[in-house]
Amino acid sequence: MENKSKVQTLIWDGQKLKLIDQRKLPFIKEYVICDSYKKVAAAIKDMVVRGAPAIGVTAAYGAAIAGIQYNGNSKDDFNLFFEKAISLLASSRPTAVNLFWALNRMKKVFAENKNNEIEFIKKKLIEEAQLIEAEDIEINKKIGENGIKALKDFKDKIKILTHCNAGALATAGYGTALGVIRSLASINKIKHVVVDETRPYLQGARLTAWELEQEKIPFFIITDNMAAYMMSKGEVDAVIVGADRIASNGDSANKIGTLNLSILASYYKLPFFVAAPLSTIDVNIKDGDEIPIEERDGKEVREIMGVKIISDDMIVRNPSFDVSPAKNITAIITEKDVIYPPFKKNLIKII
Ligand code: MRU
Repeated sequence: MENKSKVQTLIWDGQKLKLIDQRKLPFIKEYVICDSYKKVAAAIKDMVVRGAPAIGVTAAYGAAIAGIQYNGNSKDDFNLFFEKAISLLASSRPTAVNLFWALNRMKKVFAENKNNEIEFIKKKLIEEAQLIEAEDIEINKKIGENGIKALKDFKDKIKILTHCNAGALATAGYGTALGVIRSLASINKIKHVVVDETRPYLQGARLTAWELEQEKIPFFIITDNMAAYMMSKGEVDAVIVGADRIASNGDSANKIGTLNLSILASYYKLPFFVAAPLSTIDVNIKDGDEIPIEERDGKEVREIMGVKIISDDMIVRNPSFDVSPAKNITAIITEKDVIYPPFKKNLIKII
């Protein structure tokens, strides 16, 4: 089996960023072209692109595009223009820390080169965004290898449940949680993947299932409320999810509904793994209570793929993420190693 994703989440052509429109998948495969940092910020906000690492890589290209867009010759003006772009990009979505991590890398490159010519700074910004993209793919492959290590005690083929999309579409390629599944499939260790539909945005049904189908990895889709039933019937051996932000004590934010799964896994005594790059760990925050949770437009709950299912006068809520407490997490699979509890001690050691 080919150990390589066939899905191209983003394409950089040297001047512009092409993003596969994840709002339209799986039936329409269309790219959105971003030739300004404002378009990049809008694409992140509107979820053309989503998934923590993919948001980070996209934002880095947004900062590089801001550099390309500046056509003056004053260094001070260039600095102001760049800062404005960074703040807009940073305001696009609040939860995935990878966004801020990537923008900080871009700001650092700008600062380190501030005494050079404007054209040189622009070149360095593009190079850094390309590096962030290339590194992300390599990191995901290492997470995949470490995932095999984390699940080595399973002697037979494994039944894995995953939530949302932590695949090639959520990263520059390969994926984190889905990367682990890809790696396990490459050594013929997957019995099947149980794909949570992931309401309201349906990242599981629309995106994860689409990726698994392309990879010919066996799977079936369930609505989110079927997970307990599947676990009770022995259809799940382990849960593997991605993360948008991991606090220094191991509390992990991921797509809404992940908390339910972590509680269920603990009830049924199933291992619950979080697969994420080190850039998802936010050492500046103590625990999950400090993770900002995005509350999105109620329209996503009122509608399913543009079809209204609830009348406008009814109140809805739409928190986009929840936090699984560290005590429910068996291990965090990173590119460096598999981290086990106590996370408070072990996460700091690895960073
Ligand atoms: O709202 P989204 O689709 O950006 O949320 C994505 C998730 O919650 C993913 O599981 C997470 O970013 C990990 S992606 C490798």
